[in-house]
Amino acid sequence: MLKIALSKGRIFEDTLPLLAQAGIEAVDNPKTSRKLILDTNQDDIKLVVIRASDVPTYVEYGAADIGVAGKDVLMEYDNDDLYEPLDLKIAQCKMMVAGFKDADIPNHRRLRIATKYVNITQRYFAEQGRQVEIIKLYGSMELAPIVNLADLIVDLVETGNTLKANGLVPLEHIADISSRLVVNKAAMKMQHEKIKDLLNHLGKAVAAK
Ligand code: ATP
Ligand code: PRP
Repeated sequence: MLKIALSKGRIFEDTLPLLAQAGIEAVDNPKTSRKLILDTNQDDIKLVVIRASDVPTYVEYGAADIGVAGKDVLMEYDNDDLYEPLDLKIAQCKMMVAGFKDADIPNHRRLRIATKYVNITQRYFAEQGRQVEIIKLYGSMELAPIVNLADLIVDLVETGNTLKANGLVPLEHIADISSRLVVNKAAMKMQHEKIKDLLNHLGKAVAAK
């Protein structure tokens, strides 16, 4: 049995057409089904539906053999125990530092950065020798500078519409983000042929897009 972990929302929607090209289709409608393990047209392949940020955990522990996760989630998880053999080139965006255009940067205290990406933010500013105070949030980061919770934010930017709608601008580029296929190391050994075959098909589907 091969279990593939996906998160609902944009990753699910963008991955299903790639899986379909590899001959894998969900039996139930994933948009309406409340099931967390979905059967596919192949008896030995199931789709496991979980939160985006939980995908690396499921795959590292072998609760899923394969997963699709944003590079942001993988950078934040920061663990070498996963193979990352394929860039699916879906859910593309950028990890940015953002804030007000001409913000007064305080010099009597450390810069305050609001983000849900605490590890990435920590590493980025540490590499530059900049001392910052990180404020962990779980969403709606764009609000933080407006209500004076933080000086800057670290978040994903795609069209820039969310920043713009809140009077903010992108300031510094941290990383290009897209979703990656991740594979459990033991599964890669134990189910090598099946996984290699799937990687081949998905690689072709990505290239054809
Ligand atoms: P969780 O449920 O774990 O909090 P989430 O709400 O961030 O995760 P999604 O919004 O579905 O989950 O995002 C999944 C992935 O899609 C992110 O990890 C990121 O790689 C990518 N992503 C997020 N926002 C955008 C965007 N605006 N444009 C393109 N890709 C995005
Ligand atoms: C993401 C991200 C930004 C927005 C950027 O949020 O956190 O807020 O997209 O996209 P844009 O540059 O095209 O405006 P998302 O829509 O995933 O909402 P969520 O964080 O609540 O899941």
